[in-house]
Parts: sequence; structure tokens; C-alpha cells
Amino acid sequence: MNKRSLVSITDYSKEDILEVLKIASEFEKNPNRNLLEGKVVASLFFEPSTRTRLSFETAISRMGGRIVGFSDASSSSTTKGESLKDTTKMVDNYCDLIVMRHPLEGAARFASEVADVPVINAGDGANQHPTQTMLDLYSIYKTQGTLENLNIFMVGDLKYGRTVHSLLQAMSHFNPTFHFISPKELEMPKAYKLFLDELHIPYYEHTELDDVINDADILYMTRVQRERFADPLEYEKVKNVYILKNSMLAGTKDNMKILHPLPRVNEISEDVDDNKKAYYFQQALNGVYTRQAIIFKALDLKW
Ligand code: CP
Repeated sequence: MNKRSLVSITDYSKEDILEVLKIASEFEKNPNRNLLEGKVVASLFFEPSTRTRLSFETAISRMGGRIVGFSDASSSSTTKGESLKDTTKMVDNYCDLIVMRHPLEGAARFASEVADVPVINAGDGANQHPTQTMLDLYSIYKTQGTLENLNIFMVGDLKYGRTVHSLLQAMSHFNPTFHFISPKELEMPKAYKLFLDELHIPYYEHTELDDVINDADILYMTRVQRERFADPLEYEKVKNVYILKNSMLAGTKDNMKILHPLPRVNEISEDVDDNKKAYYFQQALNGVYTRQAIIFKALDLKW
């Protein structure tokens, strides 16, 4: 793997994470910096995206770089049967950095092994979404003033939701306590619970949100990932299992913030949007600064 690729959040040490957060805060002060002049970034989205693709493209544009790529695999030669290996090798010839979203777990890792340029994983199936995690960490730090010793509540589809998998691993550096709220069918996969067990990080599993919500510092809501269900009837059974309403926030901590990687479907009622504890739209904006910082690190740029 190219050593500057970001495929899994575990590719970053605690020091790397803190460094990227610091760089992101510099970009937040001034996002318009001509650091990518003469550079081309390939944006390969084999799966739909609004925030990740557009915030990467905004980040690159504000840094003076150029973007090539596609937002719909049906407009690429994948439809003619070209393999991921060949597509990656071709694009590698044309650019300085590849940003890739793909429905297959491990696709970004594979691409990073084939390409000479760094590869940034913009989401691979139900596996990892490390750039989302960096903006989540930035949002947590900005709202809490620290990443240490927080009660992190993860709610919804913890089985297929790749953002919670990456976030759990990243937060493990910062002495968290986790609460997982999900129906049995969508519980946090065993591999991630074993990961926490090995680090002696406490976690608690619940099926009801109302009973526990008042202890949260961060309430991380997630969408039930319809596209990952093999059986549509199974999705129908769980799709509306948790709906956060404004009335449920009355007894929550003053510092508590509601995060969501978005898009939301029904899991946060619109009456929550005006509550000062709702942070998900600002969270998405933080994606521009953190992705600028990730690109800065991947290309070993200098101020
Ligand atoms: N959070 C996130 O990945 O959103 P998009 O699917 O719109 O990129």
C-alpha cells in the first residue's frame, strides 16, 4: 500500500489523527489556499454520494487543484467489464491522488496496492469511511473541547453503518465509554466488540434509546442502510426503529451534541433541527476542512 494512503482509520496513529485535526483548524481559518496548483485529483465514485464527493471537490477547488473522475460508475468503462485493477492503473497514470468510493469492502485497499499515487477511501461497502471519521472527530473536538473521556452513544444501524465502525476505532485512542443502541438484527459486529474488549474499553448495548439518552455527550444517529439489505422485508421491519424527536432532548446534558453522517431518512425528526444540540449540518461543513487536511497529509504538502 502507498504509505500516504488513507484506507482504514487504523492507518492513522493517534498522533496522525491529532496532526490532521490541527491542520483542519488552519484550513477552517482560511480554506482558500493555493496548495494544489498543478495537481490533479481523481474522484472515482462507484456509489452515490452528496457530501463526501462535493466536500472533496470543494476542498480541492479551494486549494487550487483540478478534478477528473465520475460520480456514476455507469458512465465509466466498468460497464464494459473493465476490472477495478485496470481502472485504477489507468487513472493512476493521469493524477496525483485518487479518492474512491466503492460498494465492495476492501476495494480501496486493493486500489491502494495497485496504484503508485495515494488512495483515499471515501467509503467501501459496510467496511470503513475514514474521512467521515476525521470530520466526526473534528466535530466532537470543536463541540466538546476535548476527545477524552466522553460518553459516545451510537444509534441505529450499527451492523452496516461504516461510519460507526471507523469512529469506534478512532475514539479508542481517547478513553471513551460507548453505548450501542440498535435492534438485535443491526447490532455492532462482533469484530468491533472484540476490538474494544482487547483494549478494555467499556461498552453497553441497549435496544431502547429513551431510557439512556440523558447520559450522552455525543449522540451519533445513523440511517438504516437500505442498500445493504439482501431482503427488503428485513429492512421494512427495522427502518423506523429509532426516531429522535425534540421532546426527547429535554433531560439531556447541556454539552450534548447530536451528530449524523447524513443523509437522514426518518431517524431525526425535523423538529430537532432548530435545537442548539443539533450539530449535523455544521458537521457536514467540517468535512471540507478535514478533507483539505487529509489531502495535505496524503500529498505531503507544505504551507
Ligand atoms: N456522510 C456521507 O458519506 O454522505 P454521502 O453518502 O452523501 O457522501
